[in-house]
Amino acid sequence: MFTRNWRVAVCLAAVLGVFPGCATQGNGEEGSGRLSIAKATYGTAPEGGNADLYTITNANGMVAQITNYGGTVTSLLVPDAAGALADVTLGYPSLEGYFENKPYLGCLVGRFGNRIAKGRFTLDGKEYVLAVNNESNHLHGGIKGFNKVLWDAKPAYREGAVGLKLTYVSVDGEEGYPGTLETTVHYWLTNANELEIVYEAVTDKATPVNLTYHGYFNLDGQGEGDILDHVMMINASRYTPVDETLIPTGELAPVANTPLDFTMPVAIGERINADHEQIKRGNGYDHNYVLNSQDGSLALAARVLAPGSGRVMEVYTTQPGVQFYSGNFLDGTITGKEGKVYKQRYGFCLETQHYPDSVNQPGFPSCILEPGKKYYQKTVYRFTTR
Ligand code: GLA
Repeated sequence: MFTRNWRVAVCLAAVLGVFPGCATQGNGEEGSGRLSIAKATYGTAPEGGNADLYTITNANGMVAQITNYGGTVTSLLVPDAAGALADVTLGYPSLEGYFENKPYLGCLVGRFGNRIAKGRFTLDGKEYVLAVNNESNHLHGGIKGFNKVLWDAKPAYREGAVGLKLTYVSVDGEEGYPGTLETTVHYWLTNANELEIVYEAVTDKATPVNLTYHGYFNLDGQGEGDILDHVMMINASRYTPVDETLIPTGELAPVANTPLDFTMPVAIGERINADHEQIKRGNGYDHNYVLNSQDGSLALAARVLAPGSGRVMEVYTTQPGVQFYSGNFLDGTITGKEGKVYKQRYGFCLETQHYPDSVNQPGFPSCILEPGKKYYQKTVYRFTTR
């Protein structure tokens, strides 16, 4: 469907100035192509303001398209073993789809990814009340989270990679959160076929921060059926069990002898309908895994193989947790790119994060950013083939 010709066309269009603001840099190290980034107009945000679409290409022909609306990755073209590119992320055919985007396809999530119980927390003796937008809880930063704002965007360059620097200032009180948060997210596409995401933030008042990327993957290509045959390994011996509303109970429970055990590679679909309370509560997998690496270094969190295409995705992160969500709420009501209908479990997410509701859970790693401190997290999605 997508071939190397597509990339050639992009580069050519860039050279011809079809995409204004285009720039190219350096020779690729591994492939024969060049790193490039090109900018095109994508549309107008609901409150006005231009949304642009950046097309980033690496030396091997891998392509990421990212818009500054919500810091959203709208497509990710990844080669299979024969070099054929497929778009492995779910998304909408145009900007307008992202305005509502109930499943959070492809976007950045903030100020606090995942759930906060009852939309309430107390910090420095003051209670803060947030929007309740997911049954009885607060989800993914509220009504207008970081996925619904226009970020400032600038191309970024480094050896072996080209990227996009996104910045957003979330003012004191926005969505009920304390403190003005200056947020920077770098997306990098490297010549090692990695999508690298670096999150940074500073605040002027203590505030909970939990930034993540909510990409839905199907390594055989978006819309090409469900992901139940994908073989998953998660580098976590424990997880955080949840109550009926998907708020953690506070326990760090072993995955051993449960259908949540992915310490050894196993097909996502093998136990997804198991008669297990946690699986029933999540309607499948919708759980935070306590990663085995807890020291803040960049460590392997998960590895996923699609047997059909042979594509492999590895996830590395500095974060202590990852939400494995098996696309349970996709229900066929969204028609995505190329007219593809997204049915239940047509994509999976690996959202690297601090644990859900950690602002109310003293036993979890702290998600509080203090003034004078710097929030820094990094996650790498690395693509190879078997
Ligand atoms: C996260 C949550 C899920 C769901 C999706 C969006 O992954 O954990 O329960 O809300 O976002 O549909």
